[in-house]
Parts: sequence; structure tokens; C-alpha cells
Amino acid sequence: MPSVPVPLAVLVSGEGSNLQALMDQSDRTYTIAVVISDRSGIGALSRARNAGIPTEVLGWADFVSRDDFTTAVCDTAQAHGATGLVLAGFMRILSPSAMSRFPDAIINVHPALLPSFPGADAVEQALERGVAYTGVTVHFVDEQVDHGPIIAQRPVRVNSDDDAETLHSRIQEVEHDLFPEVVAAFARGDIHVESGRVRWKVPLHTGSVR
Ligand code: GRF
Repeated sequence: MPSVPVPLAVLVSGEGSNLQALMDQSDRTYTIAVVISDRSGIGALSRARNAGIPTEVLGWADFVSRDDFTTAVCDTAQAHGATGLVLAGFMRILSPSAMSRFPDAIINVHPALLPSFPGADAVEQALERGVAYTGVTVHFVDEQVDHGPIIAQRPVRVNSDDDAETLHSRIQEVEHDLFPEVVAAFARGDIHVESGRVRWKVPLHTGSVR
């Protein structure tokens, strides 16, 4: 357990159910220093404000380039004292400069078992391909989209009568368990990257298949 909770910036673009899980399940290893959004009027911002967490909106359209947007995100996170970025349903791609400013300290949650089904339509892709299992991946972010050292994964069974909504909702239940657990482990210093792969000091239990 770190003597002081690790301050993190959580980046959001939507409803914020993962942000809520991170707020609810914080075991005091980390604290959410700021919530940064690329758009206004979203559920995630209301959730943060209700919890008294500082929020910042950096409108994607207000920046001339991805690099400028990334610089603003990193500057804002650091101005609030954050030492890591947690992407919780954040729908923008950051430039490589973010990885230089937060080395091995940017974590993303993705609703599929990477490297299968990267991209914004991961749940739909899983249904289209007819896979029996999809799941959740939590990974460090690198220069490529939905790529980078995998920290933890959990499978979710695809039912024959699933549509994107029912499947995504079961995936999100798993996200809400796994993501805060991984972020807490990161904050405790239990995870490090060695030769492009994640090493755990204490392995996570694997969880059951939903
Ligand atoms: C999550 O399923 C996440 O995996 C995906 O977008 C969704 C965000 O949901 N990238 P929320 O905003 O956390 O409710």
C-alpha cells in the first residue's frame, strides 16, 4: 500500500460507469485527482461532480491537431498532480507524446479480448464473427490503437440470443470488477513492464466466466 494514494487523471467520453466503479471501489491506493472529458454534457462529468472530483472539459474540436489536444490533456492532468492516466471509455487517441510524459502509466479498458476486435465497435465485431467468448482487456497504452502490454483479461461468454446491448452490458459488469482492481494494483506498484510484457508481483485471481 503506498503511504499516500497515487493521484490519477481519469479520461472519459461517455456514461462513466467505469469511472463510477473506479470511484466506488477505490481502496485508497489511488485517488482521482481530476476527470478530463473531450466533450461536455456527458454522464461521466455529472458523476464526477456529484462526487466532488474536479472536472475539465477539453473539447476535441477546439484543438487544431491531435498533438495539441494531447499536450492539453497531459498539461491538465499534471496541473492536478496526476502521475498516471486512466482511460475509462475515452474515445480519442492520444499522440505518442502522452506515453513519453506518462511512461508505462497510461491504462485503458477495452471491451474485447485483445488482440481480437480492437476499435470502437468491439462488441459488434465479436457478434459478427460468431465467437463463443469475448471479454475485457485492461492494458497499458502504447503508440498503436487498443494495443500495448496486456495487464489483465477476463472472458465473457457470448449467448446465442445476445445483441450488442445485452452482450455489452455483461462485458461492462466484468469491466467494473476488473478495472478498479487493476488500477489499485498499478497504484500499489504490483505491476511493471519488462521487455514489452507485464509482470505481476502478486497475480490477480482469474475470475469466473460470465
Ligand atoms: C466501456 O465498455 C469501455 O470498455 C469502452 O467504452 C465503454 C465506456 O463505458 N471503451 P462507460 O462510459 O465507462 O460507462
